[in-house]
Amino acid sequence: MLIKHSSESPLSSEITPETIYHQRRDLLKSLGYIGVGSLLLPQAYAAPVYQSAAERANAPVWLKQKIATRKLQANSTGEELTPYDSVSTYNNFYEFGLDKSDPAEKADSLKTEPWTVTVEGLCNKTGTFTLEDILKPHALEDRIYRFRCVEAWSMVVPWLGFPLADLIKRFEPKTEAKYIEFITLVDKKQFPNQSTRALDWPYVEGLRLDEAMNPLALMAVGVYGRSLPAQNGAPLRLIVPWKYGFKSIKSIVKIRFTATQPKTTWAMMAPREYGFYANVNPAVDHPRWSQARERRLPASIFNPNWRPTLAFNGYSKEVAAMYRNMDLRQYF
Ligand code: MTE
Repeated sequence: MLIKHSSESPLSSEITPETIYHQRRDLLKSLGYIGVGSLLLPQAYAAPVYQSAAERANAPVWLKQKIATRKLQANSTGEELTPYDSVSTYNNFYEFGLDKSDPAEKADSLKTEPWTVTVEGLCNKTGTFTLEDILKPHALEDRIYRFRCVEAWSMVVPWLGFPLADLIKRFEPKTEAKYIEFITLVDKKQFPNQSTRALDWPYVEGLRLDEAMNPLALMAVGVYGRSLPAQNGAPLRLIVPWKYGFKSIKSIVKIRFTATQPKTTWAMMAPREYGFYANVNPAVDHPRWSQARERRLPASIFNPNWRPTLAFNGYSKEVAAMYRNMDLRQYF
């Protein structure tokens, strides 16, 4: 993956929801309702003041209404949120291009309504479902997670979604199913960079089924209390907070249950550099750079904002047991 050091300068003359988050939190703190880094936002914040063009074009009304009913969650990271401007303009989405700014600049070409997800493979309930069918039974919630890219930058992001485990249960995987595979849309008209061979399209990711059932694994439909901007993987993406960001596949159109480990995009592209497991691990360096520390965005050349990387991105308590008998140097 390309490493770029950009001067992140999220200057916005507009009031952003992120500003509102902070103002609102400061207010509650001053009133003595919350301690540092505790509560996530109150409902009043739900109507975003600032909307990107991509989001305006993409979010259907029913989804906005569903998002408005979401449950609020505590900020268990206790860390400052990365501003919305950084989350939505510093992206990796190679279907739009290789530069961090390409996805936000080109995302208008992605049309997420209508959207379907096909479920196939080793499960009892297969079929093609509209996004609305996929989301209908699930209550949405805000989840604030650290997000660590293999390129050694990180963010703290308030995603919005529902547990992947709840989705999986609906399709009734068969006992032979040991893995789950996710596949991104292929459409050169909507994803201009799919006309090149930058990656072997479609982008494919996967998890062992027990990993996918872990309560931290999230299907995300939004960020910062609003639907996902296209550049962040609208309308449906995976978030696996204890793994490097490339596992968190965007714009999913297919889910497949398999008996064998799926071939995943980056592990196929450069098998010595990117593994299937990709658990965040400061003790195992990437062959070309250290993974011991990370730049927390927003960062700049003058303020790189380095901090130590935590094992499993700080989620050891919740996930380390799944890898108890594995050599994490071999299964990187
Ligand atoms: N999913 C698809 N389909 N295509 C991609 O290029 N990039 C991955 C992941 N999911 C990628 C993808 C990488 S490398 C990262 S770090 C995260 O998306 C970035 O997510 P973000 O842009 O929302 O921060």
